Amino acid sequence: MTLDWTTRFSARAAGMTASEIRELLKLLDRPDVVSFAGGIPDPELFPADAVANAYERVLTSNERKLAALQYSVSEGYGPLRAHLAEGAGVGVENVLVTNGSQQGLDFIGKLFVGPGDRVLVTSPTYLGALQAFSPYEPAYDVVAMDEEGPLPDALEARLAAKPRFFYLVPDFQNPTGITVSLARREAIVALCARHGVPIVEDAAYTRLRYDGQDLPSLLELDRARAAGEGGFDAAGNVLYLGTFSKTLVPALRVGWVVAPADPLRRLVLIKQASDLHTSTINQMVALEVAMTTLDRQIPRLRAVYRERRDAMLAALSRHMPAGVSWSRPEGGMFVWLTLPAAVDGARLLARCVEGARVAFVPGAAFFPDRSGTNTIRLSFSLAKPEVAAPAIGRLAEAVGALAQ
Ligand SMILES: Cc1ncc(COP(=O)(O)O)c(C=O)c1O
Repeated sequence: MTLDWTTRFSARAAGMTASEIRELLKLLDRPDVVSFAGGIPDPELFPADAVANAYERVLTSNERKLAALQYSVSEGYGPLRAHLAEGAGVGVENVLVTNGSQQGLDFIGKLFVGPGDRVLVTSPTYLGALQAFSPYEPAYDVVAMDEEGPLPDALEARLAAKPRFFYLVPDFQNPTGITVSLARREAIVALCARHGVPIVEDAAYTRLRYDGQDLPSLLELDRARAAGEGGFDAAGNVLYLGTFSKTLVPALRVGWVVAPADPLRRLVLIKQASDLHTSTINQMVALEVAMTTLDRQIPRLRAVYRERRDAMLAALSRHMPAGVSWSRPEGGMFVWLTLPAAVDGARLLARCVEGARVAFVPGAAFFPDRSGTNTIRLSFSLAKPEVAAPAIGRLAEAVGALAQ
């Protein structure tokens, strides 16, 4: 008798579906399709030699080579934690190294969310965060955004329902490219503290700024607020997620969580139960490459991605029909398009992959309630201008045809 496995799966697993983004990434293998779908860094920009040299140095160092290959503590490699703590202006005890920031999202879901608990997210939000939280069976509340970020009045109304936390990506958001203004950051930090709702700040793209001024993180603003109330451990309200995936290489899988000591200690226990620790050698390599290469790497990434963003925005202006609007991100990897109401992003994609030979992500996937059917996300991180500009032209024609 064949076993019907679905009768054995937990309710949590039954709700899991394949990521539309992962499915779409398969399209990257088709050489005739220009893909604006995956939000991945351009591998041609990877500091591959620096990574190779760092592995070599670690594995030939008498002090480090055996430790590099051994089990290590769940909190993370001490010198890396110290480096990250210094960058964040917190103590070492406030930092946990994770297997990418995606693992931090999962652990935060595990720590805070039980079936039916409210979780507040922006609408739209990072699909991977929804996938990380959803197995813990939250009920999502959403707060709408404009070009300055979440709307404070809507936020305040949602905070009154006491969600477990408010998750947002304040810089060059995945998927919209929107950056939360300083005034909104201050309002969010004050409102969430007043309502006792922790903020989960996902800073995956923060270092990839192409114009404008760096803004203080929510963590920084919250630390300043908490300083007057006994300090970050006593009164801090932000859990901050960092990663080397977008600035160095994603394959090291080194990310980190910064949090007040109490939740941080719980996250360490979760880490221990989940995978014991992040690869020791990869943490050592990440630290080495961060110290030797990051300052050179970031201007390089900024120059290339800025040019690609500019080329995409110029092509959109040149080709898109009336009734289409889009974000003008100051950094990151994404431009967000709002199409005429009648144009369904998923239908457009099906048409484009075959006809226009262009791929992107339909926006509905980023809305917890699957609204936003007339939105799409374009990533410019792999978009070389000479290929991207004509592809945007073909996309615009397909939009025009569907809009009629
Ligand atoms: C907003 C955001 N957060 C987190 C991640 C996960 O990154 P990683 O696990 O590689 O650190 C991504 C990756 O695309 C992202 O876009």
